[in-house]
Amino acid sequence: MEISSGRAPVIIGTGSAWPQRAVTNQDLQEIVDTSDEWITRRTGIRQRYIARADRNEETSDLSAAASLAALEMAGKSPDDLDMVIVGTVTGDRPFPACACLVQKKIKASRAAAFDISAGCSGFVYSLSMAENLIKAGQCDTILVVGVDRISVMLDWKDRANCVLFGDGAGAVVVTAGEGPNRILSTHIRSDGECWDMLYGEYGTPYVHPGLEPMTPKPFHVVMEGNKVFKKAVSSMTALSQKALEHNGLTGKDITMLFPHQANMRIISALAERVDIGMDRVYTNIDRFGNTSSGSIPIALDEAHRLGKLRKGDLILMVTFGAGITWGASVISWAI
Ligand code: ACO
Repeated sequence: MEISSGRAPVIIGTGSAWPQRAVTNQDLQEIVDTSDEWITRRTGIRQRYIARADRNEETSDLSAAASLAALEMAGKSPDDLDMVIVGTVTGDRPFPACACLVQKKIKASRAAAFDISAGCSGFVYSLSMAENLIKAGQCDTILVVGVDRISVMLDWKDRANCVLFGDGAGAVVVTAGEGPNRILSTHIRSDGECWDMLYGEYGTPYVHPGLEPMTPKPFHVVMEGNKVFKKAVSSMTALSQKALEHNGLTGKDITMLFPHQANMRIISALAERVDIGMDRVYTNIDRFGNTSSGSIPIALDEAHRLGKLRKGDLILMVTFGAGITWGASVISWAI
């Protein structure tokens, strides 16, 4: 593996946060015509966390909590941040950027703050920006957040979609370092021709009384699940292989794969195609569902805090989301 010299983008802290309310598949049986058996067998999901409007569980609240945990682990203060980048499609408001509200909540007064809209790929897209801003010498320390509160744009009559998603935030602190343990490369792609496989449509979604209090957005998720499934497997496989080749690696070299937690069947199809055994695939989809942009950084934080990652481990992150967008990142773990 070739390590280039110069400023190295290094992840030095991780954090995550999610709402208090857990909604199980059994709970959903009371809300839509579904079953625990169907959801578990087709997706691997058993429960998800759903934000309530009467708690501090706005997208920016979850982001701020995850960010403060990541900063604490990194040993950095909010004042150290040059930039706050938030990958999300469910910011608190149409504008300003959710990142500006996070900036206010964590008091990162020196930073420039902005959002990236790339669906579930928001975190990997944001990480790619951070990696390159640090390599270019424009920033020293960047907070990258992946967060979504998809529950407020789900039509709770649409059983094909509402059972899949949950709410949550993950964050990492990236700083300029040196040495071999760094973000090795990040690769991002999109295909706007396929935008209508998965999108937000105007029209306030139905909220079941059992899920209130919730303040729905004036638009809702529309997805052609079968098409998304096939495109996700083929795109993530091809980009994973490219990312591995770029670094002179194969699937056998990867210590842990962190796939987007959308569907267990997508994850196992991907893992098989890139030659990574399921014992080296980190999943928490059973407890979180698909938290969109939050999915990879929540899993990363959980794995790190559980002691499942060690310095020098080679990590592959792969994501897929609305746009259609997808991305992959190879990291030599530094903490
Ligand atoms: N409960 C019970 N039955 C259901 C449910 C449900 N919640 N949802 C659908 N069904 C029924 C359908 O009506 C259909 O019934 P029919 O055969 O009588 O017509 C049957 O189950 C099969 O439906 P399919 O859509 O063919 O089921 P499939 O095996 O494809 O699974 C799923 C559907 C889970 C949505 C799958 O296609 C999938 O995971 N796709 C990818 C979705 C995804 O990953 N999205 C996220 C990626 S991007 C992002 O994260 C934003």
